Amino acid sequence: MNGEKRNFDQEAASWDAKPERVRLVADIASAIAGEIKLTPSLDVLDFGCGTGLLTMQLQPFAHSITGVDSSPGMLDVLKKKIQDQNLTNVKTCCLDIEKDGVLEGSYDLIVSSMTFHHIKDISSLLNQFFNILLPEGHLCIADLDIDDGQFHENNAGVFHAGFDRENLSSLIRNAGFQDIKCQTAARLTKPVHNGSDREFKIFLITSCR
Ligand SMILES: C[S@@+](CC[C@H](N)C(=O)[O-])C[C@H]1O[C@@H](n2cnc3c(N)ncnc32)[C@H](O)[C@@H]1O
Repeated sequence: MNGEKRNFDQEAASWDAKPERVRLVADIASAIAGEIKLTPSLDVLDFGCGTGLLTMQLQPFAHSITGVDSSPGMLDVLKKKIQDQNLTNVKTCCLDIEKDGVLEGSYDLIVSSMTFHHIKDISSLLNQFFNILLPEGHLCIADLDIDDGQFHENNAGVFHAGFDRENLSSLIRNAGFQDIKCQTAARLTKPVHNGSDREFKIFLITSCR
């Protein structure tokens, strides 16, 4: 782990070219759909949306979905998808939560896929989520189970080597959320630093305001 910033702009053009990444996010979307009633009236926020892999999976079921990300390059890829498909219910917002600070709006559902390990101050982000979520709204966070730092080839910008599900659930509870549930949403096998394959598990924690 180190505090150096990872350059997501540089990775944006090839981000969607990894089939295992696309499948992982599709599995996360299925797990969300299994837990949350997705109705056409929902206003959704996808925090750390990147190129919008999860945004695009959820958009057919949403009244609106806003993808927030700090990387203009990642958002440009999402903007192209919006333009190519003439989508009117998908918006983007370029914001670095650790610099610009404040999320705005009000949402029925907040989702976040594989972004929490890049955020230093998780408690402050959870407090912000609580403030912009409507009463009875839902929060869905997918990220990596606790890991010894081998998930990423390069740990630049990685503040958490995965999460202990119980610890993260406690932080979510402390921010005011209730009805916290946890499941394994996806599994990904990939080579680690010594060249052997390892299976990594991705959890989905859902909770309610
Ligand atoms: C591993 S990618 C995940 C992207 C997407 N959710 C997915 O599953 O494909 C993490 C994303 O979080 C964004 N991110 C990292 N730090 C951030 C911050 N401080 N504020 C907003 N977004 C951030 C990055 O730009 C990147 O697009």
